[in-house]
Amino acid sequence: PKIVIAGPPAGGKGTQCELIKAHYGCHHISTGDMLRAAAADEENEIGQKAKEKMEAGELVPDELICGLLKQELEKPEAKENGWLLDGFPRTGGQVKAMERMFIVPNKVIMLQVPDDVLLKRVLGRRMDPETGKIYHIEMNPVPDDDDKAAIEARLITREDDTEEKFSKRIAAFHENEAVILAAYPGARVLDGNRAPDDVSVDITAYLNA
Ligand code: AP5
Ligand code: ZN
Repeated sequence: PKIVIAGPPAGGKGTQCELIKAHYGCHHISTGDMLRAAAADEENEIGQKAKEKMEAGELVPDELICGLLKQELEKPEAKENGWLLDGFPRTGGQVKAMERMFIVPNKVIMLQVPDDVLLKRVLGRRMDPETGKIYHIEMNPVPDDDDKAAIEARLITREDDTEEKFSKRIAAFHENEAVILAAYPGARVLDGNRAPDDVSVDITAYLNA
């Protein structure tokens, strides 16, 4: 499949992508994860340009993100197994760039979650830098097993997960939401304010339809 998953900051895109990837084996492309990896590398010019914007909760320029995406889609794993775009396109300019590059999804999912719930998710989110797994201190804690203590000890909080930066991120999302939905009239809009497994059941039904 060629899937786009859109939604607000902390809407559950990354969480659902882990489940979709496990089920369909498609290549997961998170522009946010790619930019964070590039930003962590001091020699990476693109990363250093993006870093300031991301940490301020602002969108990075369309040209920069489109270049990164193009490289990623040319990888054999994307060509062979299909792809899952997490957080792209998120502006009208990115929709147009995709069209110009003939990147056409056959499934588009938009997650919807109320802003107040999103803020709670942002403030409690933690990431495992070793596995990339996403947790929430209350809503999605590390499961009880042998590694729990070790995992908890290494969890990090994202630089943009503060209330102030969240308000910028959510404003940018709402500014662009209508443009994205208009670009994909067949998109499946799903209630993301439910347990991850319940959301996943609806996504699977849509992808299999
Ligand atoms: P990106 O990393 O994509 O950030 P985002 O869009 O703000 O989305 P998040 O990653 O915050 O949330 P998510 O929807 O993946 O939710 P998650 O599953 O983690 O982008 C970061 C930055 O990079 C942008 O701000 C921008 O600067 C730049 N950027 C990226 N793409 C760009 C683009 N195309 N153009 C321009 N700039 C771009 O879940 C969140 C939390 O909630 C977790 O704690 C999780 O455990 C919990 N949770 C998830 N689902 C549920 C559930 N169903 N119930 C309860 N808790 C849940
Ligand atoms: Zn994410």
